[in-house]
Amino acid sequence: MAAAGSAVGLGNIWKFPYVTGENGGGAFLLIYLACILALGVPLIMAELAVGRGARRSPVGAFRALAGGAWPLVGMLGIFTGFIILSFYIVVAGWTLAYVVFTASGQLTSTDPQALGQAFGGFISGSYLPLGCAALFMVATAGVVIGGISNGIERVSKLLMPLLFALLIVLVFRVITLPGAAQGLNFYLLPDWSRVSADTFTAAIGQAFFSLSLGMGALLTYGSYLNEQQHLPRSSLSVAGLDTGIAILAGFMILPAVFAFGFNPESGPKLAFITLPAVFASMPAGVIFGVIFFLLLTVAALTSAVSLLEVVVTYLIDEWYLTRRRATIVAALVCFAVGIPSALSQGASDVFVINGVPFLDWMVKLTDFLLPLGGMLTALCVGWIIGPRAVALARGDRNGFPLATAWLWMLRLAVPAGIFWILKNDLLALAVWLIALL
Ligand code: PHE
Repeated sequence: MAAAGSAVGLGNIWKFPYVTGENGGGAFLLIYLACILALGVPLIMAELAVGRGARRSPVGAFRALAGGAWPLVGMLGIFTGFIILSFYIVVAGWTLAYVVFTASGQLTSTDPQALGQAFGGFISGSYLPLGCAALFMVATAGVVIGGISNGIERVSKLLMPLLFALLIVLVFRVITLPGAAQGLNFYLLPDWSRVSADTFTAAIGQAFFSLSLGMGALLTYGSYLNEQQHLPRSSLSVAGLDTGIAILAGFMILPAVFAFGFNPESGPKLAFITLPAVFASMPAGVIFGVIFFLLLTVAALTSAVSLLEVVVTYLIDEWYLTRRRATIVAALVCFAVGIPSALSQGASDVFVINGVPFLDWMVKLTDFLLPLGGMLTALCVGWIIGPRAVALARGDRNGFPLATAWLWMLRLAVPAGIFWILKNDLLALAVWLIALL
């Protein structure tokens, strides 16, 4: 449940629809699903097995089970977690603000221009977006200081089915809007002429981001699992739940984009300009809207907690900080790193590089770092930990019929697939590293 809480978040409802929109719809959806099944599921199992086997945070786990330079994979994960959390709190802050904006009745319009201006006006400010991000960071840190199984898990167990139910209601509203059919075609009919190397990078990045994969979050949660837990089943259910919610979110947003005349290539603002139009077009829309943005904030909170938890357990295990001190240090540094993202949406040109806002650069960087972490994890688990990993994945008494196939996927198919998709970026990184030396 905690792993599902980590996986389901802004990635499903904010990021997935806009990335699908930017990448031409249906064909992207298929490539995304292939990434989840072929690369995601085996790697979820690998992270959970390593975490449960080592009972340590990522760096310690790789040291204990693989040794050599492999703890660096854990370090990479912690760095990636920092980068993600730094922009995650900014977007979660937007969500929080939209609870209030919706409640106050400011957003009751279906006009793309008006909604675009409302959102643009808000995020191009300085104090309000920063304040919301700070508030969200404080909430995340509060939960992490309280300890992982305290409260939040129970809260999210209660609220996430509600989010699911609300999504279904909204999907029904949206697909019955006049003009929704065009959006459904866009979403479901693959247009292969839109596919390029970038489509694959976006799809794999989105898959890993949405599954919380490739940075040690699932590894950390694996370290709390007992030996009885059936890992293949857990992995499949996390992937299934997460992907199901993302697909529903696509059905909620993309047809609405076309029905109301928004641009599917609007980027990170897509959900924030489209959803208010959906709420405005339904009875009791304000109430639906407030509940929706509140639930989304809770979903974002459980994801942010898992991000911060990785950094904090590292500081506790390796630097012997107390939980409290580790959390405060990590939260402060992370917030500082998030400031450029928060101010890159119109508040200051300093944070727009080559015409691309800093926040978007952070997202791009994540789309590369997570699969890279996943590729190294697959190689380490497949070749270095090897058959021992199968024993760890089995646990106490569980059958695992496809164990050998799983191991060979981690050895060959998963790293090769990721390498093929990332090859241009990896080449650029290699050139850069050589130049640096
Ligand atoms: N999976 C989370 C989401 O979809 C984001 C996340 C990524 C959380 C990586 C933890 C680790 O919102």
